[in-house]
Amino acid sequence: MNHQLRFLFLTALAVSCLVFLTLSVWFLLKALHYDTPAAAASGFKRPAYHFVLVPEEMDNPYWRLIEKGAKDAAKKYNAAVEYSGPVQRDMAEHVNVIEAAIASRVDGIITQGINRPVITPIINQAIQKGIPVVTVDTDAPGSRRLAYVGTDNYEAGRLAGEALVRVTGGKAKVAIITGSLEPGNQTDRVAGFKDAVKSYPGIQIVDVEPSNITKIQAAEKAYDVLIKHPDIDAFVGTSALDGMGITAVIQSYKKKGDIHVIAFDTLPETLELIQKGWIDATIAQDPYQMGYKSVETMVDILNGKRIHKIIHTPCRILTAKDLQSTPMDENGRRMP
Ligand code: BGC
Repeated sequence: MNHQLRFLFLTALAVSCLVFLTLSVWFLLKALHYDTPAAAASGFKRPAYHFVLVPEEMDNPYWRLIEKGAKDAAKKYNAAVEYSGPVQRDMAEHVNVIEAAIASRVDGIITQGINRPVITPIINQAIQKGIPVVTVDTDAPGSRRLAYVGTDNYEAGRLAGEALVRVTGGKAKVAIITGSLEPGNQTDRVAGFKDAVKSYPGIQIVDVEPSNITKIQAAEKAYDVLIKHPDIDAFVGTSALDGMGITAVIQSYKKKGDIHVIAFDTLPETLELIQKGWIDATIAQDPYQMGYKSVETMVDILNGKRIHKIIHTPCRILTAKDLQSTPMDENGRRMP
């Protein structure tokens, strides 16, 4: 009997030790970020990095292209990209998302650098806490961000001025509808535009109005301009939905060709309006590539590679003629 009890006790002890040992190894592997055999068998690979990408506005189709590029790059580099920001453009909300990302100690923050006086302190706070920050689409050059990936926005505005000169022959009363008046990409574009048309005395800028990056407000502001300046010859819209809003008003009150329109970006509706002759030209950016390269740059930073501080993505004037020769793909990029 005594022997039997001893045997049972020893067996129970051995089994408990084995279970304890297995569990310890399991937790150790998890802590060291090794995939467990079951996870590995299911094809799951723990991401090597966790980034947060903060757009100006979550559901804006232009930002969805940046997200797509970022997520494609994330697949290649085994990173996880969390796309999170304001539902509608809202600076306080934008800053809140960055604060939350800092608090959860993500591996990197990729953010639009809009409204420089407001975004700069929060970018600096992230850097101070050891979290790398890359600006995308809009730079915050006075901040401690490690790199900027996106259009040279002053140059993009200059191109819009050049396009306007081309279609009007250098003689026009023009109004600008711009995404926002806060210091950032929109104000850089307006500055570039003004400089480009400066040497054409026939070009007169009669108004600059903000659209809050919405199509509806772009239409409202374009309508107000038409009432104030019935002899207006042209509009320039400096954010992705402005050209569409401006054109909606022109279609209701004017004939095709009465008023010239220069737009921004290559969203499908803008391309259709160019093809139908309502928009003369657009300034084509490459948001997909901005997203892709910002993730790639962040991975390089974390791997201690040398990076360029300013990575400009391509930007060019695009007309109906260009669209005939080279159609665009679903990412708003020219097909090879
Ligand atoms: C700008 C973005 C902006 C978007 C709004 C783009 O042209 O580059 O900064 O958020 O328009 O639709």
